[in-house]
Parts: sequence; C-alpha cells; structure tokens
Amino acid sequence: MPNQIPPTFFFGGDYNPEQWSREVWQEDVRLMREANVNLVSLGIFSWANLEVADGDYRFEWLDEIIDLLHENGIGVDLATATASPPAWLTTAHPEMLPVTAAGVRQNHGGRQNYCISSPVYKAKAVALVAQLAKRYAKHPAVKMWHVNNEYGCHNPRCFCDVSAVAWREWLRAKYNDLAALNKAWGTDFWSQRYHEWNQILPPRETPAGTYPNPSMVLDFHRFSNEQILDLFKAERDEIRRHDSVSPITTNFMSLRHAWLIDYWMWAKEVDFVSTDHYLIAQDSENYIDLAFQADLTRGFAGGKPWLLMEHSTGAVNWQEHNLPKANGEMIANSLSHIARGSNGAMFFQWRQSVSGSEKFHSAMVPHAGTDTRIWRDVVKLGQHVSSLADLGGSSTDQAQVAMVFDYDSWWAMSQRNLPSTSQEYWKLPYDWYRALWQLGVRVDFVSPDATAEDLANYRAVLMPNVYLLSDQQEQQFIDYSINGGSLFVSYFTGISDRSDTVKLGGYGGRLVRETLGVQVSEFAPLNNDVIVQLDSGLKAFEWAQFATARADNASSKFENGVAAGQVAISKTSGTPNWYVGTRLDEESTKQFFSNAMHELGIDRAGGDGVEVIRRGGVRFEIDNINKTVSWR
Ligand code: GAL
Repeated sequence: MPNQIPPTFFFGGDYNPEQWSREVWQEDVRLMREANVNLVSLGIFSWANLEVADGDYRFEWLDEIIDLLHENGIGVDLATATASPPAWLTTAHPEMLPVTAAGVRQNHGGRQNYCISSPVYKAKAVALVAQLAKRYAKHPAVKMWHVNNEYGCHNPRCFCDVSAVAWREWLRAKYNDLAALNKAWGTDFWSQRYHEWNQILPPRETPAGTYPNPSMVLDFHRFSNEQILDLFKAERDEIRRHDSVSPITTNFMSLRHAWLIDYWMWAKEVDFVSTDHYLIAQDSENYIDLAFQADLTRGFAGGKPWLLMEHSTGAVNWQEHNLPKANGEMIANSLSHIARGSNGAMFFQWRQSVSGSEKFHSAMVPHAGTDTRIWRDVVKLGQHVSSLADLGGSSTDQAQVAMVFDYDSWWAMSQRNLPSTSQEYWKLPYDWYRALWQLGVRVDFVSPDATAEDLANYRAVLMPNVYLLSDQQEQQFIDYSINGGSLFVSYFTGISDRSDTVKLGGYGGRLVRETLGVQVSEFAPLNNDVIVQLDSGLKAFEWAQFATARADNASSKFENGVAAGQVAISKTSGTPNWYVGTRLDEESTKQFFSNAMHELGIDRAGGDGVEVIRRGGVRFEIDNINKTVSWR
C-alpha cells in the first residue's frame, strides 16, 4: 500500500558516499550485501554537492550511486538534502542565518544554519526538492523519502526581525483581535498590555532577573514548532507532486533533545513515524531510557509500526565521555526497538568518516575495518533483522497502562518562575515509567488530546506533570474515571489552562477537587537533600503541599516538614483513582506502583532487568543486564 511504512524490516544506515572514492563505493556495496543491508539513507547533508551554485545542479554522482545500490539490491531512503544549506546560499543571504534570544546572529559553518521563518531558505529548499523528486520519483531503488534531518535539532527557534513578522502573523491568526491576546497572556501584569500588533516582539532576552511573559513564551514555542512543521510540509508536498507512491518521513529525535518539537502534531503529517535514539553512555540504566523513548515513539505512531532511523553501533562523539557499547549491547538495543514496534534497525552511519567533526563517532564499518567486534556484530544483527522481517506488518501488543505525555506542559514548565527550580517536566513521567518498567508493567503513551475511545482501551491512565489542561481535556479524563478507568494524577497536574492561566478554587481544577476528592491549597516545595516521610512508610523529596482529602478517600500524610499532617497520597473509594502529591523516591515509587498495579490486577512480566514484550505473536525476552535477547 502506498504512503505507509512497508510491512517489512529495514537494516542499514546513513550513507555519505560523497566522502569516499569510487573504489570505496564498490567495497561499500559488497560489504552491505555481506551484512544484509537493504536500505541506506542517502544525501542527507549533500546540498553543497548537489547544487554547487544557485540553480547549478549536479546530480550525476547521485545517479551513479543510486544505480550502483540498486544493482546490488539495496534500497534508498532518499534525503532531500536540505538540512545543511551551502556556503553560497548563506553568503548571498546572510539574513537567513538564525538569531539567538540575545540578538546574536549565528554563523555559517555547522549545520541547520537557517532561520526557521526564512522565506529564502524555504524557497531554495523547495526548489532543490523539486529537482530531486522529479528526477528520482520513479527510480526503483527509492523506497521512501527522508525530509531534512532531525528538524529543530540545532535551530529550534529564531528571534530575528523576519521571525518577528511571522510571529505576529501567527498570533493574528490565533487570536484575531488584540484584546483576546492580552487576556490570554494576562498582560496587565508588569505593564505588558499591547495596543498595536507591531509592538509584539519575539520573547527576546530581557533585563537580568526578569523574564518574558510565560504565556507569550508558551505561544512562541507553539509558533516555532509550527514554523518548522511548515518547512516539512512544504518539502513533503513538493515530493508528492512528483511521487504519489513512496512514503515520506522525517526522523524525529530522542526525547531529551527534542522537547521543542511537538511530535504528537508532527506524527499526523508524516506517512510513517521514524526516530533516532542515542544511549546516554554514562547512565547505568540507559536501557530504561531507550524503552521509554521507543514506547513514546510507538505512541506517536498510534501503535502502528515505526522505524528506528538512527542509533549507534558504539560510541558517539558528543557526550562528555564517549563510552563504547558493551558486548551484545548494540544487538540488544536494536532488538528492544524492534520488539517495541520498529520495522528494523538503522544506524548513523554506514562508514566511519575520516574527516569532519563526526570522525570519532562509531559506524557500521569502523576505521579499523571488518576484523572488528563492531563489524561482526553488524553482520550478526543483519541476519537477525532479516530473519524477523515477517513481523513488519505487525504491531507490538497493547499495554494496559497509558501515560499522558504533553509538550505544552513541558513548554510551560520551562518558564523560570515555578515554585521550585528543581522542577523539570520530564523527571516525574520518567520516575513513574522507570518504576513500572522495573515492575515489568508495560506502558503506552497518549497525548493530552486522547479521545474517550483512545483511553477506553486502558485499565489505568497516568497523568504526571500534566500542568496545563483545557476544560475539554480535563473533562475527557474525568469521564474516563466515571466510566470505570483508574487515574493516577500527580501534583502539578491541571494547575493552569492552555494559556497558562491558573485555575482558581484549589489547585488541579475539577479533576483533582471533584474526581480525586483532594483540595490542594498551597505548594510546599522542599530544599535540596530534604527527605520527607509519609505515614505509610514511603519517602519523598522535592515536593510537598498543603492538601486535605474527602473523608471516604484512603489517604497517607506527610509526617515531617512544614506540611506535616497534610495529605500526600490519596485514593478514592469505589473504582480507585490515585492522587500523588509528592515526588516519591525511587524505591517508594516502585512500592507505591507495585501495590496499585496489584490492586488493579494489571499484568506483570519479566522484572529485574529482564523485559518481556510481544509483537505479532513473537515473545521477545530482553536481558538488559547480560545484554542478551531471545525470541520465539
Ligand atoms: C544525529 C544526527 C546525525 C548524526 C548523529 C550523531 O543527531 O541526525 O546526522 O550527527 O546525531 O550521533
């Protein structure tokens, strides 16, 4: 079927043949065949070699390599080459270089060196895409299109004057009249009221110790996300004009780098979801981070198969200490992604560069050649991937628990004036996920706009740090609970509406007050290193609050600290819903969820570092401690 992820498995990586001679190309295809490589992502950073001066296109070398790959049975994920504008373009148009919040224009020399609202960049990118799509649309090697690369990785926002104009247009479209904007942003604070549209600037750096309006910053995140998405759509639509068959994707990024892009929104625009994931080498439990991100990616894909477009065979080159992978780790990583719905395993990159800033980044073909641990594992993995290819049409089994993951809440919580500087959006979702992972409870992810139908499939829905909730979203979760689902709602959920205006009458709105039966009147964040004890024996840190609960709730209370005697955790009677008004430590989070999962009768499998995941009737058992995987 066109415009979907093909129901098979892909194995390969980013391929940069322009860095190598024709002799090496011959060796490349021979080795690719040896390793069962069936797809390479081609041309991602090739703009300067494809268009050597304005409108002077040189496709001969690309023709040659695509033909060579095709003759050798290797498919192409053809990139649009727009991720790194060439020097002739930025020299002619220095105004297209991005500007920081402090007003500093950045220079040519790295990559993604363009302002996301630049009409020049957009026009030149689309012109290149038109040439590529026209030329290669019918080439049998082309299996899919790879638009740009990790959009927003280096240039997620731009504060230049061109961006300011686009920003005002976006605001006009959203609010229509200034009175609505002033109300949404609460501009009567600090004399911020706007009387003319042209008075509105991007949230540029303000005098030390003061910060731009948080609701404005939130909208600027939304605007920037949509500006970048518009760039993607412009390229995608140009490809579609010439190729109505091949699926079009763009590689998303792993979570902690990617918080400025709302992938729930982006997932609706790609033909299939693809993503990149790099282990944080020094995190001793980085396989949990991998699991979190792969499960989140499956959420973006609506449970359908997706593709791991990049990960590494060994060390990267951009962490503090670039540790190699342990024996077996690369294969275990790949299979963990596959079990979680990836249609294969792709890498950055095929052959390790000898020049440029990524020359010490691992690759499928290392500097030392093929008599190496990495190459032997690449060959072994290639065999595994091709033997599993029949799973390409299948999905990972659904979990019984869903977690709400919300970019708007993350953006809003990135403002500086929260109750505590220790608060960071992703920490609490990750704590909760990690505890469930350790207990062998699988988790799916849903957006805060999940419909009743989406939620109905889950026994429990977790809402950690869903700071912003519109009335409509709130109602959806209230209804879920009324219909018999169990909610787990944390502190700092439902505090503000989607404009970041605080809801009055007890923190957490109707969801917390009425559905959970908890009245929160005051926050009591804790100093670093302060531990509070709960009367249930659990321990917590970072957060306490003044709260009371309905008499028929089962509640546990803080035993010490300024909020001693106040409700910390509260469970409703009848179908249980839990309110968690503190940040439990790792062991206590595990204990809390262990009891709650038991009470709800939720399935557990694996544990102690071993995961059990089913996809298409195959049961994967991943031993993350010993780095081994078995399946049957
Ligand atoms: C990714 C990027 C690749 C490569 C890789 C290195 O973010 O898409 O081009 O730079 O990182 O880890």
